[in-house]
Amino acid sequence: MRTVIVTGGAGFIGSNFVHSALKQTNWRLIVIDKLTYAGSLLNLHDVEHDPRYSFVHADIGDQAAMAEALERWHPDIIVNFAAETHVDRSIDGPHNFLAANVMGTFGLLEATRHYWSKLEPMRRKSFRYLQISTDEVYGSLGDAGFFNEDSRYAPNSPYAASKASADHFVRAYHETFGLPTLISHCSNNYGFYQFPEKLIPLAISNAIAGKPLPIYGDGLNVRDWVFVGDHCDAILTILERGRAGDQYIVGGRSERTNLEVVNGVCAALEELLPADSNVALAANRYESYRDLIKMVPDRPGHDRRYAVDCSRIERDLGWTSRISFEMGLGMTVSWYLLNRRWCQAIQQGHYNGERLGLQSAVPR
Ligand SMILES: NC(=O)c1ccc[n+]([C@@H]2O[C@H](COP(=O)([O-])OP(=O)(O)OC[C@H]3O[C@@H](n4cnc5c(N)ncnc54)[C@H](O)[C@@H]3O)[C@@H](O)[C@H]2O)c1
Repeated sequence: MRTVIVTGGAGFIGSNFVHSALKQTNWRLIVIDKLTYAGSLLNLHDVEHDPRYSFVHADIGDQAAMAEALERWHPDIIVNFAAETHVDRSIDGPHNFLAANVMGTFGLLEATRHYWSKLEPMRRKSFRYLQISTDEVYGSLGDAGFFNEDSRYAPNSPYAASKASADHFVRAYHETFGLPTLISHCSNNYGFYQFPEKLIPLAISNAIAGKPLPIYGDGLNVRDWVFVGDHCDAILTILERGRAGDQYIVGGRSERTNLEVVNGVCAALEELLPADSNVALAANRYESYRDLIKMVPDRPGHDRRYAVDCSRIERDLGWTSRISFEMGLGMTVSWYLLNRRWCQAIQQGHYNGERLGLQSAVPR
């Protein structure tokens, strides 16, 4: 049985990964999480009594705490999801992003390097450290083309810059110390347990509550979307078959404009909870969810288009995304409808749907 440390495992993708890995493997999983506003043990509620799951409350930047956890649990694999992740928050306060994403990754890498160097040769060879990165490190595309593993790093937001910096450290630890690292660059994820501040979960929870659905700028910025369960399967595949030192792009082959995404949320909601039966809309005389759409000022430095070519992971490792955007969106809307109490509890005292990321905008 392998022991896997999952940092940031109480957040959106991390908690989905814990659920997937407990179902699909016999691994023992140790979640290490600082429990920021974005992380919650509510996301791991249904696995808390599983004997193969344990939780450690710690900051990945605390090298002594990381060293202690590694000595105690003796992992075969570390998957680092822990990060500050919301671009808008990185505009309002970049410092937290440096602390968590750069210094945090550094603290974790240092503790990992010392632990790994003392392993017996066979375990040292099979050990893996996987850094969960993003396609945002590559910057923005025009109307054509795709990012691939050879694309040049050109991060535009403080979030992307902090993730890019962390990737460079991971790469350097492989080249300099021989640490068997992997990096995955995934496009935008959506699905269950996502904190309702980003486009899809915010649109769903606002629409259910009859609140405006904000769309930045002209709404024509394009993202590639991948269902979180597909991303978690890709991570399991990379851990099983990925080659140490390699990077893998992960995507859903589903490019959509933000306007298309929000229209998709409205359509899925109309099927499951028709607007004329939702008292929150009737109270304000809205006849359809689309009436809630509101164009708002753009995000400063808003990248126009991200699109990824994931043929390396498809060809070399045999992974491919399986859930279409329409199907995944329907499943996601349905999950948020069934989990309205989770949604309220997770936001309580942290976030009230207000606009973020404009505080330091200076007219250009
Ligand atoms: N969400 C996406 O669309 C997406 C796409 C590509 C890559 N990623 C990457 O995937 C990872 C997970 O993203 P997410 O959307 O699940 O994020 P999230 O914001 O939902 O969760 C982040 C988790 O990390 C924890 N955390 C933050 N700082 C920490 C620290 N210093 N020490 C320990 N734990 C800490 C938080 O408490 C939270 O549980 C991130 O590294 C992100 O950059 C996300």
